[in-house]
Amino acid sequence: MSDEKEMIWLKSEVDFVLEKISENQKVFKTMVIPAASENLVYQPEKNVDWTASFWVGMLFLAKELTDSTAFDETIKMQMESFQNRLDKKIELETHDIGFLYVLSAIADYYVNKNESSKKMAIQAADLLMTRYSEKAQIIQAWGNLDDPAERGRMIIDCLMNLPLLYFASQVTGDEKYQLAAYAHAKQTQKYIVRPNFTTYHTYFFDTETGAAIGGKTAQGYSDESCWARGQAWGIYGFTLSYLHTGDKSFIDTAKKLADYFISKLPADKICYWDLIFNDGSGQERDSSAAAIAACGLLELSRQLPLSDRDHLRYEAVALEIMAALSKGYTTKNTPQSNGILLEGVYDKNSNKGVKECMSWGDYYYVEALTRLTMTWYRYW
Ligand code: GLY
Repeated sequence: MSDEKEMIWLKSEVDFVLEKISENQKVFKTMVIPAASENLVYQPEKNVDWTASFWVGMLFLAKELTDSTAFDETIKMQMESFQNRLDKKIELETHDIGFLYVLSAIADYYVNKNESSKKMAIQAADLLMTRYSEKAQIIQAWGNLDDPAERGRMIIDCLMNLPLLYFASQVTGDEKYQLAAYAHAKQTQKYIVRPNFTTYHTYFFDTETGAAIGGKTAQGYSDESCWARGQAWGIYGFTLSYLHTGDKSFIDTAKKLADYFISKLPADKICYWDLIFNDGSGQERDSSAAAIAACGLLELSRQLPLSDRDHLRYEAVALEIMAALSKGYTTKNTPQSNGILLEGVYDKNSNKGVKECMSWGDYYYVEALTRLTMTWYRYW
């Protein structure tokens, strides 16, 4: 695609997502967009799920894309809701405190320079630290800390929660957050990444002895397959851990995960929900994994030296994915939908959110468009 054609395509795509976000502001003020749509429509939900921050994240991106105050009132209401949730510890027995407070508190601190949001991020990081097991050197993913079924489970998604801890060390000067995040990322690299650079979704440790037990899927096709979204979280997440720690092995791992992901892309560049599937399988795609991977590949490309011959390749694949999403996977011709990306899969195994819009898919699609159209300083 020529540069000029690319700019025209990107500009009209940015206009499309900004219109959606503006329209959604009328409904989602203190309420949030849920994890997944139902019949392609998001129903307003209270700030209780792990996905609540993808809406405010989109509002911050929209503010930056337009450099306007048009989204400020909703952002302010959302920020109050996130502080309230943290103060009352509403449904926060999850490692996704990272997703929740990176896209609210940290984004607000960076974009609006609010000192109170810096404090909120540190308060959230302190809560996330309670999930860290010194013995196993991992952050427990799900459930309460006394739950024997969940104690000792780490999951690949958690790499995206670590930036909250990196941020807390950066602004407080206390290295405890960074050390825990680094240890968790190393355990993920050692145990969740397989020798062929596919990934387990989740992995168990014995938190009494610290011994590694084994991998298990929750949302993938099988324990030994490679869940597409997990691989995408890994590409982006290891790149971020490289960025925050300087450990070059993380960028090597991110590249290997990216290479595997790219090698499994079907003809139209939008992955199936598990990378075990290919064209002809009759399985669903996961557009949200594609959007996350596009952001991860763009960040990976940005972190590589110009002399690295993969620098341009990763950026080119990200652009191909974005062009394919724009061409065949948005709601442009589905006016009844208030989502942005069609064909996401939340959890195929429990038939939850299959062939629907995903709030994080929409967020990462807007993030990738932002990355492609302006110089953007990441919230992560
Ligand atoms: N982090 C949960 C998911 O990707 O579905």
